[in-house]
Order: sequence, then structure tokens, then C-alpha cells
Amino acid sequence: MTTEDRIIYLDNAATTFPKPEVVYQTMDHFYRNFGGNAGRGSNPLARKAATLVEETRSLLRSWLDAPEVIFQPSATIALNTAILGAGLSAGDIVYVSPFEHNSVLRPLEHLRQTVGIQIEVLPFDRQTLECKLDEVKALFRLDPPAMVCVSLVSNVLGLILPVGKICQFAKQISSRAITIVDGAQAAGLIPVDMVHVDALVFSGHKSLYGPYGIAGITFGTDWRPSPVIRGGTGTQSESIDMPLDGPSRFEAGSQNIAAVAGLKAALEWLGQTGQDSICRHSQELSALLYETLVQYPRVVVHFPADHKKHFGSISFSVDGVMPQAVETALGSSGVAVRAGLHCAPWCHEFIGTMAAGGTTRVSVGHFTDENDVAEFATKFDKIVRG
Ligand code: ALA
Repeated sequence: MTTEDRIIYLDNAATTFPKPEVVYQTMDHFYRNFGGNAGRGSNPLARKAATLVEETRSLLRSWLDAPEVIFQPSATIALNTAILGAGLSAGDIVYVSPFEHNSVLRPLEHLRQTVGIQIEVLPFDRQTLECKLDEVKALFRLDPPAMVCVSLVSNVLGLILPVGKICQFAKQISSRAITIVDGAQAAGLIPVDMVHVDALVFSGHKSLYGPYGIAGITFGTDWRPSPVIRGGTGTQSESIDMPLDGPSRFEAGSQNIAAVAGLKAALEWLGQTGQDSICRHSQELSALLYETLVQYPRVVVHFPADHKKHFGSISFSVDGVMPQAVETALGSSGVAVRAGLHCAPWCHEFIGTMAAGGTTRVSVGHFTDENDVAEFATKFDKIVRG
């Protein structure tokens, strides 16, 4: 990127950018030198690709502290795999938080319309954004969950949800309850106790600093969905059924091995840089952004009362200005942010920003620095003061 077209990138919740240099180098090297297809034959390049996939899987198992990992092309497809493959039936109650993304809500709505499941929203406090855990427990007792689907971190608000507790309550009330955590915004950076979590969905291109085209599910328990996508796996090819166990049951079709290579490089970079250092940097810069925004009486920052429960995105509203106008004005001055509903309509209904067309969202990443925040502050000041 040249100096002239330098963009202050504050849209890391949409995808972390830039990537660690080693990710670019590794993907380029992969395509030039060993672009074989994993699990398809045993020629040297196919074997090398298969080893790469398994090494990446193993890194993910330890980075996410879960016994099994399957790859999927995106977090949305991974969530569809878990939700649509769960075998829900008429009358089953699925609890979601008010902050869920359409990648959870739309597959569930499809099941509501076609199968007759019931979708219920978990209780949170509108002022503090705190989860009302006692009420959650009472609700589960009254109407036991068949499934719970909750985000680890809201892509709109950066709110960290108590997913461990919610999943634990669900399992205590009904051991057959399926617990799914959408970790797209923070898996690998905010730890998840997997004991009561059946499936944690991760996204390679967000909190793991890898490329697009690689995501997946880590399973914390023995629960597995039925495969939703079926096809060639390079294994047990004599049968036209999907393999009965192992990751290949869920990995039909050629994998995006260049993306796997990029993800492996990203995971090694994460290991060297350290989870603590990445989180601390992000939290320090988020705090600076928060301080910048709250000084304006015209600006409402939609932030958890307990600041420790925040990671990533900060959403705000400017009185009398549509969020898209703020996004456009910032964009014209070289600052990339995202405005609108962020594919999470119920979140905006919950915080009361639906009628205004959503919020403006700023989000930092490991490669954001204090100068970026200072430049944002100068440019934002001009917009707010008009
Ligand atoms: N879900 C992504 C976002 O929050 C793309 O912007």
C-alpha cells in the first residue's frame, strides 16, 4: 500500500487486515511450489498437502483447546452445518442471544418455517448488556432447550457473552441439549471452556489473522451433526455414504488448501506473538477509541457497563446523523469503518437502533496503532462538529 492511498483500517470485525506478512508469503509459496490436492491419491504433492492439512488441524486443536476440528469454507457454512445437521424437530426450543448474526438466525428461521422449531431469545439487560443468568436458568427449567446458539462476542457491540455458563445451564437442565457457540469474532483470542460446548465455530480470516476461505468447527464433546454437504472425500470411496466418522465426514470436496496453508502460518504467528499480547493491544486501542467517542454529548456509545466484558467492535450513534452518512464521511477522509445492521438485526432491535438504520462500528486489530486512533479522532471531530 502506498503512502498516498493509506487507509486507516478500523473494520477488523469484518476481517482482520492486514495479515501477518508470513501469511502472504506462505500462500504465494504454496501455489507456486506445492499446490497438490490433500487426500486425493498418494503422489508426493497430494501427500504434502494432506500433511499440511493435518498439521494445521493439530495446531488448531491445541490453540482452541478442543479434541476435534473440522474444516469448513466459512463460519456461515460451519454454522449451517451445525444447525441444519442437528436433526431438530417440531416443537424443539432453540434459545439464542439477542446479538446473533444472520448466519445463526437465518438457518434457524428456515427450520422454524419448514420443521416447526421455536426460537426464543435469552434475557439480557438493555442498559448494562448483562446476561440475566438467573432468569436464563429459570427459563430453561420451564421450557428445556433442544439447542442453544450463542455468540462468544457480538460483532456489533464487542460484548463478551457468558457462553460457558449458558451452555452449562442448558446441559444441566437437559443433557440432550445441543450447545453451539458462534466464535467468529473472537475464537482463539477469548478462551472458551469447551466442557459444555458441543460445537464452537471459528473463522480463519477474523480473530485468527488467516485468509478468507477457511473456517471450521471444534467439537468439545462427542456430539456431531449429520453431514449437510455430501460428496467425495478421497476416503472410503467404495461407499456412496459419507464416511461414518472422522473429519472427512464433514469435509466433502476439494479443500481450500492455500487457505489452510495461510491459516497454518497465521497460527504459528499467533503462537509467537502470544494471545495475551494481541488481546492487550486490542483492548488498549479500543479503550482509546471509547474515550475519543464518549467525550461528545451528541454521541451514544453502545458499550457494556462492565468494560471487562468488551472485546473488539465498538458501535456508536451520532444524534441526528445516519450511521451510513458517518461511514461515508469517514471513508472520504480515508478511514474504513462499517455502518448499518452488520447482519445482526435483532441486536439493533435490542439496543434500539433499528429505526436509525443501525450504528457506526469501529474495530481495531493487532496492526492498528495509536496514530491510527489519533487520526480517526481528528477526522471524526470534523464530522461531528460539522
Ligand atoms: N460478520 C462480519 C461483520 O461483522 C462480516 O462485519
